[in-house]
Amino acid sequence: MTKITYVDHTGTSRTVDGIDGESLMETAVSNLVPGIDGDCGGACACATCHVHVDTDWFDRLPPIEPNEKSMLEFCEGADEKSRLGCQIKVSPALDGIVVHTPVAQH
Ligand code: FES
Repeated sequence: MTKITYVDHTGTSRTVDGIDGESLMETAVSNLVPGIDGDCGGACACATCHVHVDTDWFDRLPPIEPNEKSMLEFCEGADEKSRLGCQIKVSPALDGIVVHTPVAQH
């Protein structure tokens, strides 16, 4: 299993088992992790799955596609480590990844 750690704005961390092929958004929602809503179901159309990726992990992720980049522009508090959780698929290469959920989504 691939371990995914979500850290909320208070510093509380929750580590869950991800299923390969599912997204970080789907993994959060199915494990009742707060701070990620996924309102559009992963269609890259709502930006309620915004996360800040831990610095050590950001460069290991697949590049940002143009539609994800456009949606990130609508995210409150987006920065250079921002991604949409629905666009990142769980795989063994992500075992141990840490992402931070923004205060605006809590
Ligand atoms: Fe809507 Fe990611 S779930 S943009």
